[in-house]
Amino acid sequence: MFPNNLLSVADFSRKQAEDLFDLADHFEKHPPMGLLDRDQIVGTLFYEASTRTRLSFEAAALKMGGGVISVPDANDSSAKKGETVADAVRVMSGYCDLIVVRHPIVGSAAEAARTSLVPIVNAGDGDREHPSQALLDLYTIRKERGEIEGAQVALVGDLRFGRTVHSLALALALWPGIKIYLVAPAILATPTAVLEALQAAGVEYRQTECLEEILPDIDVLYATRIQKERFKGEEEPLYETVKDFLRITGQTLKAMKKDALVMHPLPRVGEIALEVDDDPRAIYFRQAWNGVPLRQGIIATMLNRTS
Ligand code: CP
Repeated sequence: MFPNNLLSVADFSRKQAEDLFDLADHFEKHPPMGLLDRDQIVGTLFYEASTRTRLSFEAAALKMGGGVISVPDANDSSAKKGETVADAVRVMSGYCDLIVVRHPIVGSAAEAARTSLVPIVNAGDGDREHPSQALLDLYTIRKERGEIEGAQVALVGDLRFGRTVHSLALALALWPGIKIYLVAPAILATPTAVLEALQAAGVEYRQTECLEEILPDIDVLYATRIQKERFKGEEEPLYETVKDFLRITGQTLKAMKKDALVMHPLPRVGEIALEVDDDPRAIYFRQAWNGVPLRQGIIATMLNRTS
């Protein structure tokens, strides 16, 4: 059984993830229009900006025949009047069958799940986790590479604030033979809690600031944006010192394997040069498009409507 709520990668097993990927593959070949009833509604409640996550969940629901209600910008909701996420979700859960919530505070999705009458998907809680993105990333790796097992994966960029890389690192640990390279400037290094979880799972990993030295070895280069919005207070000036840490160009690709994958959760803001887009190894747009069948799989599984 898939969990009632998808709050963290700790909520699913490798088997549950593989079953979900099979279902997403099935939905790609056999579009599931009509799988949901018209009155089965997915709600999206976003306190932080989003393009891919919100729209792919909404497209997924609509392409299954269900409905969507959305708060795309909580500044246009009663949050502006001081309503808590717990109260907002409690009310919204009386209007819909599943809620996808993004919020800047760590633990907010779990808080939402405590008051919700319907399943909750964490679409990003501050700098901690983004589990449906990790499932999408792994689904994409399996689709492009044939398998996840044994992959050498470089997670590059903002590994401190990057919730996508936190979730992906923890999810990769479910597969055997994985090696993870953690490539970041010192001030954006991977949090201790994530490193400890990798150690506990027996995952081989290496931290470095030098991408060039590992390029010939890796199967997946997973690039991330340095997130300016996460540098707060006295740390704000530090953004300027790291903003140009990563720049993937045609030269970078020359040092990589012919069948390596270049991935990115997007949005990018300059860390991947436009010239890279035309290389067959650059799969970040296909990765984003995979969001619809993968999230159809999540919705169908959590609403128990897989067939
Ligand atoms: N990858 C991702 O979470 O993108 P959005 O912020 O556009 O949803």
